[in-house]
Amino acid sequence: MSNITITTPLYYVNDKPHLGSTYTTIASDAYARFQRLNGNKVMFITGVDEHGQKIQRTAASNKTTPINHCNTISQKYKSLWEKWSISNDYFIRTTDPHHQKLVEQFFQRVQSKGDIRIGNQKGWYCIGCEEYKEESKDASNPLCPIHLKELEWRDEENLFFCLSNYQTQIENLLQNPEFIQPKSRRNEIINFVSKGLKDFSISRLNLEWGIPVPGYDGHTFYVWFDALLGYISALLPQGQEIDLDDINDFGWPPEIHIIGKDILRFHAVYWPAMLLSADLDLPTKVFGHGFLTREGQKMGKSLGNVLDPELLLNKYGENAIRWYLLSDFRFGQDGDFQQKRFIDLVNNDLANTIGNLLNRTSSMSRKWFTNKVPDFSYDSNEEYLKNLSINTIIEVKENLENLSFKEACSSILNLASSANLYLNDNKPWTLIKEDKNKQRVGYCIYNVLETIRILAVLINPIIPKLSKDILNQLSYDDNHLNWNIDLEWGQLKKSTSLPKPSPILVKLEDE
Ligand code: MSP
Repeated sequence: MSNITITTPLYYVNDKPHLGSTYTTIASDAYARFQRLNGNKVMFITGVDEHGQKIQRTAASNKTTPINHCNTISQKYKSLWEKWSISNDYFIRTTDPHHQKLVEQFFQRVQSKGDIRIGNQKGWYCIGCEEYKEESKDASNPLCPIHLKELEWRDEENLFFCLSNYQTQIENLLQNPEFIQPKSRRNEIINFVSKGLKDFSISRLNLEWGIPVPGYDGHTFYVWFDALLGYISALLPQGQEIDLDDINDFGWPPEIHIIGKDILRFHAVYWPAMLLSADLDLPTKVFGHGFLTREGQKMGKSLGNVLDPELLLNKYGENAIRWYLLSDFRFGQDGDFQQKRFIDLVNNDLANTIGNLLNRTSSMSRKWFTNKVPDFSYDSNEEYLKNLSINTIIEVKENLENLSFKEACSSILNLASSANLYLNDNKPWTLIKEDKNKQRVGYCIYNVLETIRILAVLINPIIPKLSKDILNQLSYDDNHLNWNIDLEWGQLKKSTSLPKPSPILVKLEDE
C-alpha cells in the first residue's frame, strides 16, 4: 500500500465551473478512485484559486466584495463536485488563513536562499491568464492568443523569483521521461527551457486582492506564486505551525498533478524551481491533458457556445457524461464534444451493450433458477469468459495507471460485447428446452453474470454510480470494493437471490 497524493488545478473563481474544469476533475476523480481500489491510501485534492486581478475585477463588476464573490463561487464548485460524485479528500481555498501563513513561510524560505530580487517588470499582461505574454513584447496592441482579448501594458516595480538560477536543475529534471505526461507534451517544455529561463515576477504593486508580501508595503503575491502553494497547504493540518521540512509526513510530494495543457509551463518549470529553491521534494509527474471544443469550435462566452456542466448533469445524469468524456476522448489529446455522438455512444455502450447484457442474463437466471444465480458446479473445460476477464483486468489496470481512460473503457466494453456474443453462440434459451442441458445452461448463465460483476467492478472508477447499480442488481456488496479481492473470478456466490432487473440507464433522447 502506498500513500498517493493526486491534485487537480485550483480553479479560478471568476465564474462557476465550466465543462473544461469539470473534465479535469472527473478524470482526476477516476484516477483517484482507481488508486483507492488498488488498496492505496489516496489524498485527492481539488480547490479554488481566489486571488488576483481577474477575481477583483469580476467582483467589482458584480458590485460585490471579492470575498463575497469568492464565497459564492467556491460554494458552487463544492456543490457541483458533489453532484458529479467527485471523491476529493480535501477542498482548498486560497483565501483560507492557514494557506496565507504557508505562503508567507514559503516566501521567507525562498528569500533566505537568495532567490528573491527586486526589479522592474515591463510588458503586456493578460488578466485572463494572469500572465505576462513574453511573445507579444514588441507588438503595439496585441491580443491574448487564448482569450482573444486586448493585453494591458504594465510597467511597475515587482519582486522577482530567480528562475534563472535553476536552468541546469530544470534541464536535468526534464531528462526524466516520466516527469511530463503524456510524452508528446515534453518537447514543447524542453524547447521553452532551452531558450533560457528568465526570472519571473512574484508580486504585484497596488493590487489589493492578494496576500500581502511580508516586508514589502504595497506588494501582494502574484496569484500563481500563491495558488501553486495551495497544493501544500491542502495537506497540512489547520491551526498548527508546521515546519516545511516535515511536509513529507503529510503526503508530500504528490504522485501526480493533473492539469490542462494550458498551464503545463507553470507546473513543469516554475513550480519545480520554486520547490527546489525551498528544498522540498518534487511531484513525481505532471499530466497535461487536451482541451475540449464543441462541435468543432472553441468554447467561449463571446461565441455563446459554452456548455454548462450543471445543465448537462441535470439533463443526462452523471453516468452518461462521465462515460462520454472519459471513453471517447484520448485524455492527453484535444477532443470535440458532439451532441449526436454523445447520445449515440452512451445509448450504445451503456444502455445496449452493458445494460441489455445485465437485463437479459439476470432475467434468464431468475426465470430458470428460481430467481437466483445458478447453482451449478464448475466446468473446467470451458473458461472462455474467465480468461477473457483476466486479460481485460490486466489491460484496464495498465491503462488506468497511465491515465489512458479511453483505452480502459474500450477494454471494458469489449468484454461486455464478448459476453453478449457468448450468449448468442451458446443460445441458453434453446438449450433450456431440454432438461438434460440444465447444468450446461446454469454454467453458461453463471459465466455471464460473473463477467458482468467483474465488468461492474472495473467500471467503478469511471462511472461509480452505474457500477453500484449493477452490483446491487447482482446482490453483490459494493461497500469497500478492493481490486485485489473483488476482481478474483468466482466471487459471485452461487444461489444468490437476484432482484427483478431494471434498466441501468434510460436511453437518452436528442432534444
Ligand atoms: N487557477 C489556475 C490554476 C492554478 S493551479 C495551482 C487556472 N485556473 S482555471 O480555472 O483557468 O482552470 C484551468 C484548467 O481548467 C485547465 O488547466 C484545464 O484543466 C481546465 N480547462 C479549462 N478549459 C478547458 C477546456 N476547454 N477543455 C479542457 N479543459 C480545460 O488556470
